[in-house]
Amino acid sequence: MRIKDFKLEEYFAKYEFTVEYSLCSSDCESFSVEELLTLEKDSLGELKKVWLGYTESLGNPLLREEISKLYSDIKPEEINVFSGAQEGIFVFMNVLLKKGDHVIVQYPAYQSLYEIANAIGCKVTKWIMSDENNWELDLKFLESNIQNSTKCIVVNFPHNPTGYLISKENYEKIFKIAKENDIYVLSDEVYKFLEYKKADRLPSACDLYEKGISINVMSKAFGLAGLRIGWIATKNKALFKKIASFKNYTTICNSALSEFFSILALRNKDKIINRNLDIINKNLNLLDKFFEKYCKYVAWVRPKAGSIAFPRLLIEQDIEEFCLDLLEKKGVLLMPSTKFDYGTSHFRIGFGRKNLPDALQHFDNYMTENYG
Ligand SMILES: Cc1ncc(COP(=O)(O)O)c(C=O)c1O
Repeated sequence: MRIKDFKLEEYFAKYEFTVEYSLCSSDCESFSVEELLTLEKDSLGELKKVWLGYTESLGNPLLREEISKLYSDIKPEEINVFSGAQEGIFVFMNVLLKKGDHVIVQYPAYQSLYEIANAIGCKVTKWIMSDENNWELDLKFLESNIQNSTKCIVVNFPHNPTGYLISKENYEKIFKIAKENDIYVLSDEVYKFLEYKKADRLPSACDLYEKGISINVMSKAFGLAGLRIGWIATKNKALFKKIASFKNYTTICNSALSEFFSILALRNKDKIINRNLDIINKNLNLLDKFFEKYCKYVAWVRPKAGSIAFPRLLIEQDIEEFCLDLLEKKGVLLMPSTKFDYGTSHFRIGFGRKNLPDALQHFDNYMTENYG
């Protein structure tokens, strides 16, 4: 397989670990091992007992049980654990898709959600969102673009990079359309549990539909990206079997230590999610003030969920130049929309980290010096 460079990941690789303020990271504030171990007494003793041989390919049974509790009607046998969501997406697409298949992908998108299909030789239709329409998806577009060869619809709610969360009503309409046309739905749910109003939380694709595939991960809402633990949940037995079989050619099984910490974190899910939502809410209040102050220069649609948003620069300047100038002068990293192949005016901002107030102050200083 020949695949294009992953623009966003390459940009991060270049700057993320040297920049003073990453203001575009999508994951929530992480934890040290020590902090995680304080979640339960005796956890250090349990950690010392972890056996470092090969682990069960589908994932530690205790982990699969904890993961299954995140869904309404999913059994541990319907969960396959991977090295991050990324491996899950890669394996799913390679198992389901073949050259010539048609795929409809919500867009802009995290690159692997369409690039792997492209590399396989699929025809990819971008289901484009626009901030002029508050990022709202047009269901008529979806309906009118379905072809006989359409194999899969790829969606991502809460959405990267916009923070868009579709209404339950429209979400269910996507599944109605998929069911009527016998099409798979890959639902990237990696920002699930970061809804600002719990009532807005969507049901998972795997709970709604036999051909629904839900992907989630410890990286985003749980802030544990370094564990590299993600999973696929689906009731589709035939697909599940093929996915499990393909994994024998990627990672075979998962890291025993990462599985241990994931079990611990999932058992303490509410504590972790509430801590991260608290960080997000505080940061959003600061962002509201910032964007109001600079509303002549930047327009943003306030998200309903997640730890990222995608504001539009209203100044006549190429977004990549703007981001690089800010980086050089203030040490603040934003993600230009060019890394999503989505025009030259937007940037992704991340607000799941504790240092946002400091980072935003530096961004504010830059705006005052240049446009104040
Ligand atoms: C929408 C989406 N899907 C999947 C991933 C991959 O997640 P991970 O790096 O934890 O495998 C990301 C990471 O940014 C993402 O934003």
